[in-house]
Amino acid sequence: MVKDSMFKVIMTDSQRLENVDIEREIIERAGAKFVAETCETEDDVIARCQDADVLLCVGIPTTRRVMEALKKCRAIVRYGIGVDTVDIPAATEAGICVANVPDFCWDEVADTAMSLLLAVARKVVLLNNLVKKGVWSRLPAKPIYKFRGQTLGIIGFGHIGRAFYKRAIAFGFKVIAYDPYVFKESLHGYAVELVSLDQLLRTSDIISIHTPLTPETRGLIGEAELRKMKPTAYLINTGRGPVVNGKALYKALKEGWIAGAGLDVMEKEPPDPNDPLLTLDNIVITPHYASYTEEAYHEVKVKVAENAVHVLTYGYPKYWVNPEVKPKMRKF
Ligand code: NAI
Repeated sequence: MVKDSMFKVIMTDSQRLENVDIEREIIERAGAKFVAETCETEDDVIARCQDADVLLCVGIPTTRRVMEALKKCRAIVRYGIGVDTVDIPAATEAGICVANVPDFCWDEVADTAMSLLLAVARKVVLLNNLVKKGVWSRLPAKPIYKFRGQTLGIIGFGHIGRAFYKRAIAFGFKVIAYDPYVFKESLHGYAVELVSLDQLLRTSDIISIHTPLTPETRGLIGEAELRKMKPTAYLINTGRGPVVNGKALYKALKEGWIAGAGLDVMEKEPPDPNDPLLTLDNIVITPHYASYTEEAYHEVKVKVAENAVHVLTYGYPKYWVNPEVKPKMRKF
């Protein structure tokens, strides 16, 4: 049970979910109050969440301004793995714990990355569109090369990168990876070679991005990097949109520096309707849905609610993104 029945957990942007029944059930059963808000902006959060002890957020940016305005707030829990919507240094300075759900949807995102790879490199979407227009021919698919024996480069060899690795090995790819933060001891049992980004770009037939969005990875793949790739290569991104420069990607796809791309994430979401990437035949795009299955969304809701109850029971979350906040945490 939570320490005080007056504790309040506010879900800031519940309009982004089908319902919040699971979160409400778990939090109220633990003895705290639960409120579902439908904020669209920072100002909405500041106006409507003043008495929150814990905020639960899907996509709303939790900025320094929000944290300074919400004097009671002790924790921010993000629905998901990525915490790029939360200003973590600001939270730490303000004495607020940040939590996420780092251990769900690994299979889902890896499956989506493989689906995008197959859709674009096996030309599934291109041919599907042509068949529906009355064209029954395999010629527009040319050229397609055999996957077995090709080199697949993974950028970011964490949980999802490794889940994707297993699928890639099953297809017969030789796997290389770029990840400057991986301990080579953790690669025991993986048939993967760690290489520089330069080598990965120049030698891969397929590149799949699985990094978080950080100041270091923002724009990691721009014009210079795309120009290093093989003209027959494909780029898959299920990490975060701003890791790839969209303008440079358009030029690369239009001018044939690379053969194609598959994206689940874009620089701006949703994209502008006149984004030129949407006009190309050699790109397949899905709407940032890679984490989705019924099972994964159930799991993330349970774990978000557990995080909130953990904060209100023990003073810190179950999955703690900024443990360095410990000495200056806001007091109950
Ligand atoms: P993780 O933390 O297990 O792995 C991330 C890996 O990226 C780590 O090994 C880390 O060392 C590496 N990395 C960090 N900075 C790097 C850099 N500059 N260059 C190369 N590698 C770098 O995280 P996980 O679970 O594998 O998730 C990865 C990302 O996938 C998340 O941060 C999130 O942005 C994205 N994601 C996307 C989803 C979607 O719906 N499209 C759903 C879930 C996650």
